[in-house]
Amino acid sequence: MEKKQIDWSSIGFGYIPTEKRYVSNYKDGKWDDGCLTEDANIVLNECAGVLQYSQSVFEGMKAYTTEDGRIVVFRPDMNAKRFADSARRLEMPVFPEDRFVDAIAQVVKANAAYVPPYGSGASLYIRPYMFGSNPVIGVKPADEYQFRAFVTPVGPYFKGGAKPITIKVSDFDRAAPHGTGHIKAGLNYAMSLHAIVTAHEEGYAENMYLDAATRTKVEETGGANFIFVTKDGKVVTPKSNSILPSITRRSILYVAEHYLGLETEEREVYLDEVKDFAECGLCGTAAVISPVGKIVDHGKEICFPSGMDEMGPVIKKLYETLTGIQMGHIEAPEGWIQVV
Ligand code: PLP
Ligand code: COI
Repeated sequence: MEKKQIDWSSIGFGYIPTEKRYVSNYKDGKWDDGCLTEDANIVLNECAGVLQYSQSVFEGMKAYTTEDGRIVVFRPDMNAKRFADSARRLEMPVFPEDRFVDAIAQVVKANAAYVPPYGSGASLYIRPYMFGSNPVIGVKPADEYQFRAFVTPVGPYFKGGAKPITIKVSDFDRAAPHGTGHIKAGLNYAMSLHAIVTAHEEGYAENMYLDAATRTKVEETGGANFIFVTKDGKVVTPKSNSILPSITRRSILYVAEHYLGLETEEREVYLDEVKDFAECGLCGTAAVISPVGKIVDHGKEICFPSGMDEMGPVIKKLYETLTGIQMGHIEAPEGWIQVV
């Protein structure tokens, strides 16, 4: 397969249109067969559920070219399951999980020329999504939905790639205690736009959100979960019902225990104790594992001993092992890699 002529090492996390996308429609209580299309545009009624009441959910995962030239997708079955959970929470029909995985394989295969080559530092980001498409004016779920999946080649989510970033403790909340923080719905991201613009204007790369009820516990950022490393090398990650259950985080905990022999702990993490950790990182599909060098809490600086120049040693090991598994040069646990 001839790859597209793209300067892979210079692309950031942006939208580059590719040739094919997958689409399936839900009407009269059932999904149609679905197909690939070249049409990147969607024409909707002015009163569509997604336009009026934000009834939309999405997912994010990545495909890679391995050293021996195969194209692989990382744990799409996990995204299928989370997508179904998100749909149920917003009163949307579930797109069957096996069809989700098949649609991803189809759209990646159809755009194989856009999967960045092995070693380029880039990957193919996959964005499945679903939205209410028929008119609704009273507040209620739509009756008709569209499921779509497109792909776009991406580079690092944060400028500078593996360079540690500085983030701030946000004055805004991302999610309510019994709200929708644990699902991947567009509305959570709309909520975070003002906070991220404010953080960027102040020179920070991201926000650390706290729990809305007490504002004492660490939640997550706008697009990634936290991982911390204690001074004695334990991997700690915040537990909360209002954060997105990151597939990257769950994979990291497994890798830490089973590949690196590290102790792990998923528990409530108080903002007060963050200063005592040795390393901090953000983890997610887009973020991969991005090191955090400094957190600013209303003028008070928390500086991690790992510094602002490179990843701390434990986070580096986690990063190398996880990306090694994703890119096919470290043997993956059973079922983690889908070859398309
Ligand atoms: N938290 C938020 C708010 C996200 O948007 C994402 C990205 O998907 C994550 C965490 C990380 O989740 P995952 O590792 O499944 O990509
Ligand atoms: C992802 O990592 O897939 C996300 O959806 C996060 C988003 C900030 C791009």
